[in-house]
Amino acid sequence: MDIKGLRINGKRLRQSLEDMAKIGATPDGGVQRLTLTDEDKTARDLFVQWLKEIDLDVTIDNMGNIFGRRPGIHDGLPPVMSGSHIDSQPKGGRFDGILGVMGPLEVMRTLHENNIETERPIIVVDWTNEEGSRFAPAMVASGVWAGALDIDWVYQRTDIHGKQFGDELERIGYKGEVPCHKWPVHAYYEYHIEQGPILEMEGKRIGAPKGILCLHWYDIYLEGEANQVGPTPMEGRHDALCAAAEMILKVNQLPEAMGGNMVATVGEIQNYPNSRNIIPDRVHFTVDIRSWDDTHALDAWERLQNDFKTIARQRGCPIRIEETWRVEHSPFDEKLVQRVLDTADALGYPGHYMVSGAGHDASYMNQVAPTAMIFVPSIGGRSHVEVENTTWEDCEAGANVLLHCLLNSANE
Ligand code: GLV
Ligand code: MN
Ligand code: MN
Repeated sequence: MDIKGLRINGKRLRQSLEDMAKIGATPDGGVQRLTLTDEDKTARDLFVQWLKEIDLDVTIDNMGNIFGRRPGIHDGLPPVMSGSHIDSQPKGGRFDGILGVMGPLEVMRTLHENNIETERPIIVVDWTNEEGSRFAPAMVASGVWAGALDIDWVYQRTDIHGKQFGDELERIGYKGEVPCHKWPVHAYYEYHIEQGPILEMEGKRIGAPKGILCLHWYDIYLEGEANQVGPTPMEGRHDALCAAAEMILKVNQLPEAMGGNMVATVGEIQNYPNSRNIIPDRVHFTVDIRSWDDTHALDAWERLQNDFKTIARQRGCPIRIEETWRVEHSPFDEKLVQRVLDTADALGYPGHYMVSGAGHDASYMNQVAPTAMIFVPSIGGRSHVEVENTTWEDCEAGANVLLHCLLNSANE
């Protein structure tokens, strides 16, 4: 068998992605497959069925991570791994995460049908709750696996309806017996859509990020005083939503005020009692700060907290701040990043060295094993939206890069 000439089956990869896109399909062409919902379960069941069809050894751990293992000639050697996530954002796209699970599955199918043996075992993985949208924070399952997060803390996280992560994991039947715990890994590659505009702008097909920005998440709780909006004079009000509005603009202005490389966003808000004729007395909103420079992001948070406290005082709205989650920026393994670029080059795909602004399980994997990612272009730079799209040709190209990166690492 001419290993160099080996290619994945692009049609089959497309079919798998289209089959998965039916699970949780939204009317406007996207996918809503929130973590630990019935849709997540249905997609997991299909994934497990596909793993078994090609004789992979399937393991489910007590965080619901699904591993499909293909033995190596020297089966005791640390494996190479590749995976991503099956869950999606609310009204999310058809490629975020799932491409990074179907890609390595397609690699496994290709190796299987060609009877190709590798020196090391290869493992494909679906990590539970990468998005952190239903249960904050994100990437919790790779976080527990890497030893960075405590499993009981994760089990107790609640969604906005008060349902607990641990209960929901059990409900869908994916709380496995095997303890979620790291093992030695020779190399980890995560295949993903770029989720930004750079590759399209540069006219490049394959992105090789040097790493991922730090992610800092905060939850802000404000209290005000509810009252009838008509008879209550404007002076002396304690309007929690107005306090939040001022704070949200501070977040939006933060990157410009601080300079340097940073983005800051408020994406979620709950206002109570949320009636047009009651002054709001309770607000919760989230803050997301990302930068390549962890210290810069922390300095920004210091400044923001001071602004928040001043606004809260001026508006007479007590504030409670929760520092929910922090992941340091992740500089990937330089040798593996270069391998992604070299492999793209060898296959005739123009590659591009860049950074990832989106968070990925690769952040936590990078704390355990040499890690790199493979990006393909997002049309119009749109992601976490229903119109999220990537051409089938690019999906195929990225999976071929993954195939040869995995083969290379699995045979060294
Ligand atoms: C993960 O999807 C992120 O928030 O970047
Ligand atoms: Mn993703
Ligand atoms: Mn995402």
